[in-house]
Amino acid sequence: VPALPQGYNLRRVGKEDFQDKNLFKTLSILTTVGDIPEPKFHALIEYWNDRKEIYNPMVITNAENVIIATGMLFVEHKLIHGGGKVGHIEDISVNPSEQGKKLGLIMIRNLIQIAQTEGCYKVILDCDEKNVRFYEKCGMKIEGVEMGYRF
Ligand code: ACO
Repeated sequence: VPALPQGYNLRRVGKEDFQDKNLFKTLSILTTVGDIPEPKFHALIEYWNDRKEIYNPMVITNAENVIIATGMLFVEHKLIHGGGKVGHIEDISVNPSEQGKKLGLIMIRNLIQIAQTEGCYKVILDCDEKNVRFYEKCGMKIEGVEMGYRF
């Protein structure tokens, strides 16, 4: 895994991240965040923290201690493959002012490393065509077709 720039850190999301809204700002680059009141945010963090073997919500902070990148590794515990585990990478977002500094790649490499430590036999994700080259640079390969059903 390549090293982060000086002063940058990778860590788990915490309840304190509600205050300055930088987590929400970074995620809004990716998609609609919607209205999340503080009690709902805290309940979700508790839900994730009670299930640390499943939920790995990670962020990168810059030298000013501001969240500028996000990523989630969700570990699915399966019956098949001898009760194996599959890692799912979700919600990758890098603030535009910090893009092109390998932070996306460092996030992905770290999530893959967590998946390996957790004993996953593979890691998968869904993405747009325009991001395929980025994920290939992270060492991933196209496998199959993404499908969805929207409500
Ligand atoms: N097309 C081609 N190559 C790319 C692209 C791209 N769209 N994005 C990055 N790369 C290349 C870089 O040039 C670099 O190559 P190099 O090693 O040869 O120099 C390598 O991939 C690593 O790039 P990073 O600097 O780590 O990329 P960055 O930190 O800018 O993050 C990301 C890339 C996450 C796609 C960012 O642009 C972003 O947040 N985009 C908007 C949100 C988004 O689309 N997120 C992905 C959703 S899919 C999901 O969440 C599962």
